[in-house]
Amino acid sequence: MPYTFAQYQESADFIRSRIGDFQPRVAMILGSGLGFLGDRVENPVAVSYRDIPHFKVSTAPGHKGQLLFGTLAGQKVAVMQGRMHHYEGYSYEDVSYAVRVLRLLGCDTLLVTNAAGCVNTAWKAGDLMLITDHMKLFLESPLRGENLEEFGPRFPDSSHLYTPALCDAARQAAQALDIPLREGVYCYFPGPQFETPAEIRAFRTLGADAVGMSTVPEVITAGHCGMQVLGFTLLTNMAAGILDQPLSGEEVMEAANAASEKFSSLLLDCLKRM
Ligand code: HPA
Repeated sequence: MPYTFAQYQESADFIRSRIGDFQPRVAMILGSGLGFLGDRVENPVAVSYRDIPHFKVSTAPGHKGQLLFGTLAGQKVAVMQGRMHHYEGYSYEDVSYAVRVLRLLGCDTLLVTNAAGCVNTAWKAGDLMLITDHMKLFLESPLRGENLEEFGPRFPDSSHLYTPALCDAARQAAQALDIPLREGVYCYFPGPQFETPAEIRAFRTLGADAVGMSTVPEVITAGHCGMQVLGFTLLTNMAAGILDQPLSGEEVMEAANAASEKFSSLLLDCLKRM
């Protein structure tokens, strides 16, 4: 069920009652293996998803289910420790609900990360990718239903959802830190089953470099309400059918944890440049 503008406001008002006049600028959605970055937030105020009116609770492994407000690398941030996924049973409106609430609280930028399968056979598991564009193929839009003009237009442009200036900042950060950074197209697949080898071959033919089960609904919603977006993917495994081995959630978590240091230093450096 789509939400009303008043509901988003109610959520924002509740959070405002907890954070006072703190004004977050960058909303961060941290995917698998990066939730620990929240522990680096200075002077944090935590607000549990459970307490916020209309918020849903994330159930994915390793996702804490709280918003953290504070300062990280000199930026005033709102960190979502845990996100909602469509495969958990949530609608796309539910999945991207928090983005609009954080917009109402003053965030003008979304920094989003995820773990994904590597579709590009020239790359390898463990690589980091700057998301320059995405494909969502046939999934329903989080913007479906009555348009809330308060947030944005009925037919928003999607030509530059991943803000070019922020992509440049990410390239500079990666260069300064000597962290190799791939660039490519993230293809959304709803899951929770991993893709079939045939699906991966199809996505590759269509131009995908990575495939994953998150991010795209939130980015569409952020673009609609005029936020800048920066997105990164950690390629935790080669996508289905590339190697002769089954995929598993454990493999994804292990790879995410192994890369967390490299990934977090890149994110912190990006924050400084934003
Ligand atoms: N497919 C979809 N989502 C994923 C994958 C994958 O191979 N790895 C991590 N998230």
